[in-house]
Amino acid sequence: MHTLAVETSCDETALCIYSEEEGVIGDILLSQAQLHARYGGVVPELSAREHTRNLLPLLDQLLRDTGFDLKKLDFISFTLTPGLILSLVVGVSFAKSLAYYLKRPLVPVHHLEGHIYSVFLQGPVEYPFLALIVSGGHTDLYLVEGFGRYTFLGGTLDDAVGESYDKVAKLVGLGYPGGPVIDRLASQGEPIYALPRPLVEEDTLNMSFSGLKTAVRRLVEQGEYRREHLCASFQSAVMDVLERKTLLALRQTGVRRLVVVGGVSANSELRRRFTQLSQRHGFELRIPPPRLSTDNAQMIAYAGMERFKRGITAPEEVNPEPNTPLEVFGKSWS
Ligand code: KG4
Ligand code: ZN
Repeated sequence: MHTLAVETSCDETALCIYSEEEGVIGDILLSQAQLHARYGGVVPELSAREHTRNLLPLLDQLLRDTGFDLKKLDFISFTLTPGLILSLVVGVSFAKSLAYYLKRPLVPVHHLEGHIYSVFLQGPVEYPFLALIVSGGHTDLYLVEGFGRYTFLGGTLDDAVGESYDKVAKLVGLGYPGGPVIDRLASQGEPIYALPRPLVEEDTLNMSFSGLKTAVRRLVEQGEYRREHLCASFQSAVMDVLERKTLLALRQTGVRRLVVVGGVSANSELRRRFTQLSQRHGFELRIPPPRLSTDNAQMIAYAGMERFKRGITAPEEVNPEPNTPLEVFGKSWS
């Protein structure tokens, strides 16, 4: 069984041809990061226009590289939600046109479900497990009891972790996206500045990162700081919060398996800290390779295949949704 997956929820245009039997046959990804860098963040309208410009040439390239015949496809997978609505509209319309022309069904995927299943591309994880999703738009803890069976446990009340990395990078003049630069600079510094760790002591799985960003702004305004130490201090505060809340979630649920996914799971300090944590507390840890931590179409293809196997397809009039919670999506598309 073969699928073509389409992912355009933010600033990556990504396609993947995936087979249930052979795995990934080919995938292609075009990042718009450089284009948005000069504005210090993603400009939604520009992102949608770039998706429109690039989808067909990318499909052409993918078919040339793989020699794959589109007629072999059994269905089209696509990201339905959440994301920048204009960007989603482009990908969904593209997926619909292909499905119509090829007379194949459409299979909707939730972007966060894609992130969760990015680890399955390297082999399945046993249920139940906890998922810590840390991306540009989300910082959430979920209990996953089966495919499509997601329970929200807690998450950020304000900024997502990736968003804080991007905002802090902007404050310090490090460009966009902030995550990879802060990751690199932090490794050259020491966490010597005192920064807050909001809600860390409280018995809640909710988190908050906007106060941390404000504290960084204050330090920057005072002007007396070394960039590498600032990055190390910020990163250390973020990781303390993520560690504590994840441990609390593991304790509250009694679950002994954890996946950490989403763009920020590419972070080297996060990988180091969570590996140590899993050894110290004796739970199983899975993090996707960095290339699959950030947005990609392989994860959408994998989740699409799981949905299709369960007979879940979308009607022709399906429309993208800007922000459907994962647990709601899991129940309504089952
Ligand atoms: O999952 P993703 O590619 O897109 C969304 O679904 O949001 O995540 C993008 C986020 C950006 O905020 C980016 O700065 C962050 O992931 N990121 C990182 C690293 N690489 C990407 N954050 C920390 N360290 C990294 N190495
Ligand atoms: Zn993402």
